[in-house]
Amino acid sequence: MKRRKFIAIAGSSIIIAGVTYYLVSDKRNFVRADSKHTETTKMPLQLDEKEILFLASLAPSGHNTQPWFVKYVESYYWIIGNDKNRWLPGVDPTQRETILSIGAFLQNLEYAASNLGYNCQFNILATINQDENIVDVKLTRAIGIINYDIDQIKHRRTVRSNYLNDVLKKEDISYLLDEETDFIHYLPNTSKEHQWLNEQTIEANRIQAYRDAAQSELANWIRFSSKDAAEHMDGLTLAGMEIDGIPGWYLRNFYDKENVMKKSFRKQSIDKVVKQVSQSAGWLLITSKDNSVTALLETGKRLQRLWLKIRQKNIALHPMTQIIEEGATSQLLNNSIGINEPIQFILRTGYLKNYPEPVSLRRPVERFMKT
Ligand SMILES: Cc1cc2nc3c(=O)[nH]c(=O)nc-3n(C[C@H](O)[C@H](O)[C@H](O)COP(=O)(O)O)c2cc1C
Repeated sequence: MKRRKFIAIAGSSIIIAGVTYYLVSDKRNFVRADSKHTETTKMPLQLDEKEILFLASLAPSGHNTQPWFVKYVESYYWIIGNDKNRWLPGVDPTQRETILSIGAFLQNLEYAASNLGYNCQFNILATINQDENIVDVKLTRAIGIINYDIDQIKHRRTVRSNYLNDVLKKEDISYLLDEETDFIHYLPNTSKEHQWLNEQTIEANRIQAYRDAAQSELANWIRFSSKDAAEHMDGLTLAGMEIDGIPGWYLRNFYDKENVMKKSFRKQSIDKVVKQVSQSAGWLLITSKDNSVTALLETGKRLQRLWLKIRQKNIALHPMTQIIEEGATSQLLNNSIGINEPIQFILRTGYLKNYPEPVSLRRPVERFMKT
């Protein structure tokens, strides 16, 4: 057989084998809708308690580590804690993002409780980001509470692709910044600050992709296989990273942590960031009064209030935190943007034509409860 013909036949056999394997095996990502919350617990949780804590856990967190736990003190009385096994020392050495994520969890908790007719009384216990006990919360039945629409919690998600480039409409900016103008800043894609943030986001991602401590930490939180995803119910799945179809299937079946450390993977992630920043209405920045635990929790709550109300306007958010995480870029940030207060979130924003449903996983409530 001629060499060229042999290669052609061998090539098609590989493709056929690949397609056959694809058809008979893992065809799609394991997503949130697939997960069944059937775990049992020794904790005497009431149905309302379980529902409220589940909705709280739909909060966003860096690498989807879900860095919270809940200590059950008694019925409707819990301590919300900081799980140090879920910290990200490679990108968040001071646990700033951990506390912001716990703040988002608290906002969901408060809204979910109000939906079921409970009032929350929070009492901050932590004085530094590393403290284990962050806040205690007591829920009491109340009348006349504003009933929050929990569909907004269920349908919130991070979106990373297919942003339109139209700037935000005036009325939508007022809606987003409503009573938060001191802390939320919109930089449209026509501004020079927007351009600076685009360039520095690419630069910070380049620095981070080649910093092994950050990259191996990322590798530990990517759940390539559906089996891994179903087992851990946390981290970054391919569906969450919006890698579907044949590329998703290929990565799910043939990729693992070691591939993340390869030059080709690092390069591809930077290329993806270049494409992402080229699509947006601009950036939203969220600042805080200072860097205290209280201010960080409040900022996480503020992020969540904003995030929960944008889907109904077809507006998406994508936190891109690398500028803050990398020293070389973070030291230039405030001066270059002309903001004095600490900048806690850098969020790419924009309109979407089609808004996808959430797919990122969450651990069942029982797994983050402690006695
Ligand atoms: C503090 C914080 C930092 C984050 N940083 C990034 C980031 O740099 N890049 C990114 O793509 N997503 C980032 N995210 C989004 C999370 O990856 C996302 O919330 C998580 O995977 C869960 O997905 P969901 O938001 O769709 O529920 C961040 C979220 C938080 C709360």
